[in-house]
Amino acid sequence: MAPPTVSLSFPHGGKSSFSGGLFINNEFVAAGDGKTFAVVNPSDGKEIAQVAEASAKDVDVAVKAARKAFNESWGLNVPGFKRGQLLIKLAELIEANLEEIAAIESLDNGKAFSIAKGFDITEVAANIRYYAGWADKNHGKVIEVDSSKLHIQRQEPMGVCGQIIPWNFPALMFAWKIGPALAMGNTIVLKTAEQTPLSALKMCELIKEAGFPPGVVNVISGFGPVAGAAIANHMDIDKVAFTGSTLVGRNILKAAASSNLKKVTLELGGKSPNIIFADADLDQAISWSAFGIMFNHGQCCCAGSRVYVEESIYEKFMAKFDEKIKSIQVGNPFEGNTFQGPQVSQLQYDRIMAYIDSGKKEGATLRTGGIRHGQEGYFIEPTVFTDVNPDSKIGREEIFGPVVVVHKFKDNADLIKKANDSVYGLAAAVFSRDVTRALDTANKLQAGTVWVNCYNQLNPQVPFGGFKQSGIGRELGEAALASYSQSKSIHVNLHAPNPM
Ligand code: NAI
Ligand code: MG
Repeated sequence: MAPPTVSLSFPHGGKSSFSGGLFINNEFVAAGDGKTFAVVNPSDGKEIAQVAEASAKDVDVAVKAARKAFNESWGLNVPGFKRGQLLIKLAELIEANLEEIAAIESLDNGKAFSIAKGFDITEVAANIRYYAGWADKNHGKVIEVDSSKLHIQRQEPMGVCGQIIPWNFPALMFAWKIGPALAMGNTIVLKTAEQTPLSALKMCELIKEAGFPPGVVNVISGFGPVAGAAIANHMDIDKVAFTGSTLVGRNILKAAASSNLKKVTLELGGKSPNIIFADADLDQAISWSAFGIMFNHGQCCCAGSRVYVEESIYEKFMAKFDEKIKSIQVGNPFEGNTFQGPQVSQLQYDRIMAYIDSGKKEGATLRTGGIRHGQEGYFIEPTVFTDVNPDSKIGREEIFGPVVVVHKFKDNADLIKKANDSVYGLAAAVFSRDVTRALDTANKLQAGTVWVNCYNQLNPQVPFGGFKQSGIGRELGEAALASYSQSKSIHVNLHAPNPM
């Protein structure tokens, strides 16, 4: 049976057509049982394509392909510089197809086309290129102990890596996952999010064109409880990397514990504090704070969803912040000035609206937004709450939408306690002109990333990941290489005496 074909027409003109199959062994194939599922455009809720739906059996086929490739045509069989060359070729092909991949991403996810093009897909290429550079710089170490032995430490690939990604940055999460894994010589079985499978499928065409051997990268579309769980429970997957909800993150750890103790890295939720001191540059703080929560429609694990403003500037800050939030252009992702498109799905729309309702019921002040935008699709007006009880649902839980809660604070001690009062610890930000105050605060915050006088800055060179329940391990930078390799120590006897 032939797999489905995806044929898209973009609202701003142009078309794209590619396979909707499972990408296994460099071929697009139908699911073993022939099942497919619908892909929806969140701007109008209408179906735009069908793609193959992987079962546990299909996961198994993909794992076998990945294992064979690891043993025969990848990993330590291929010199690092060769792996690097293939990654560079892939980065070049992504750049050559930038407009098309960005349009696919925008149609499937709902993010603004201009942002998909200028940020998401541009960063996909930058990440792949960055890890291409590491592929032949995996040098290992010689460790001095005494002259009787030579001690060599080398970093070897893990083997077959299972990777499960979310829908908020479909293409970029794909790149964050495959870049370091391939640079270190692993093979991959990656599951895209069921809401947004399309951009990865287009990139699989390019993976084949770049010349990666069959079986090195295998990508499947499918649902979490079936295909995702099959990856997490598989006995022949050596490592699983997951980005998504904290709830599912726990399931992944449990599955690893009760199967083969595969290594686990997790990048989970957040409720990140964004702190504005009275001495901050007010316009700068307002601009970055609005961007900090509203970028990607609030669907960022590191979103600055709890803003803390020093009491003496609170009224002034709020007046300008409201104005800024109201000026955000919500609408058709393919229109030039759109900043915010629809939420990704009906389910996410409903979840966010339920949070907004609970905020109103629990007595918070709704300053702006709080309602649907337009007549169709999953659009929500950018929403600001104040007078929020820190123990209420909107005060504590990740909303993952265009909804921010703003608090006041009195002094530093009060602030740090409040800011760190969360089960999460993914990110934080501090706005101040006083470098000592900013850095003292940054040092005290329990977060894997702290931005000073900016927000949402992510660079391939700089590690990213969570403290506390926001995750395990780090992505990006040199740190990610450790997540995709294992250390082997070799003791070589030169003239140690015989032991007995
Ligand atoms: P989710 O955690 O269910 O989905 C993320 C990925 O995990 C998807 O590929 C999904 O198919 C897979 N998955 C789901 N259940 C699984 C299972 N039992 N075993 C293995 N894989 C499984 O997240 P969902 O439902 O899409 O969003 C819910 C909330 O999660 C959001 O409102 C947000 O708070 C958070 N989230 C956080 C993200 C982040 O970047 N850290 C990204 C997406 C969601
Ligand atoms: Mg979609």
